[in-house]
Amino acid sequence: MKTIYAVFGDPVGHSLSPVMHNAAFEALGMDCEYHTFRVTKDDLKAAIHGAKAMGFGGLNLTIPLKEIALRLVEPDPIAKAIGAVNTIEFSKGSIIGHNTDGIGAVHALRSSGVVIRDSNVLVLGAGGAARAVVYQLVQDGARVTIANRTIERAEKLADNVSSLGTARGTGLEDLPGLVEQSHIIINTTSVGMHPDTGQTLITSDMMHSGQVIFDLVYNPLQTRLLEEAKKAGAITIDGVKMLVHQGARSFRIWTGVEPPPNVMERSVKDVLEKQ
Ligand code: ATR
Repeated sequence: MKTIYAVFGDPVGHSLSPVMHNAAFEALGMDCEYHTFRVTKDDLKAAIHGAKAMGFGGLNLTIPLKEIALRLVEPDPIAKAIGAVNTIEFSKGSIIGHNTDGIGAVHALRSSGVVIRDSNVLVLGAGGAARAVVYQLVQDGARVTIANRTIERAEKLADNVSSLGTARGTGLEDLPGLVEQSHIIINTTSVGMHPDTGQTLITSDMMHSGQVIFDLVYNPLQTRLLEEAKKAGAITIDGVKMLVHQGARSFRIWTGVEPPPNVMERSVKDVLEKQ
């Protein structure tokens, strides 16, 4: 009998997780299928328990369910620290909540040959995605600067991870100076996302060759930020890499099997390139 996996969210129709996980299941010859289900916050508890009762293999959660899930499952220490759950594992009667976003970002960097320990990382933004990324980066020994439009959010996030490593929060006023000092720059904001594709917080004149520019935005695939980075001769990493590596981590949690990242990446890019 097929094992079913799913992503719950509201809205959830745009999710690229089914195409990515189904491509991996097919490549590995696993008798599994991944689907989307629209689930509201109010129904989340029932939906999780229903999935467990029906023998689902595991779940992903997306907007707006990641934070409220924290009190509906047993979060692991990483999910607890980040304050959000994106992966649910059904294990021997327990419902365990994981967060694979931070580790996905770090794996995306590593898979592109980037060294994180002792590097200066500039994180643009201080929302949910930034939180997961910053948490993992400080654990892995990076020196992190969080620059956000609302400076208080950046300062609060830096403060929250201060016991784990080096992080400071600031505003967007001195971006040229901050970019200059950074080895790695990660955009976690929605700036540049469809339909405002002409937008970017930093431009090529601020960057230099050898820097790594990682944009979590994958719609469009080639964002203005990545175009600017290429102009400056910087190394670019697109948002699909993050999507694939957080997904791969979830896949391993559920199945114990290492999925093929290249197959997952190709499946997602095929969909995005047709849009
Ligand atoms: P997510 O969970 O995807 O990270 P979020 O929590 O809504 O989403 O965070 C969005 C981030 O993008 C925030 O850091 C936000 O800045 P504020 O905290 O000041 O709101 C940032 N952001 C969104 N639009 C922006 C813009 N036009 N310019 C600069 N930053 C922007």
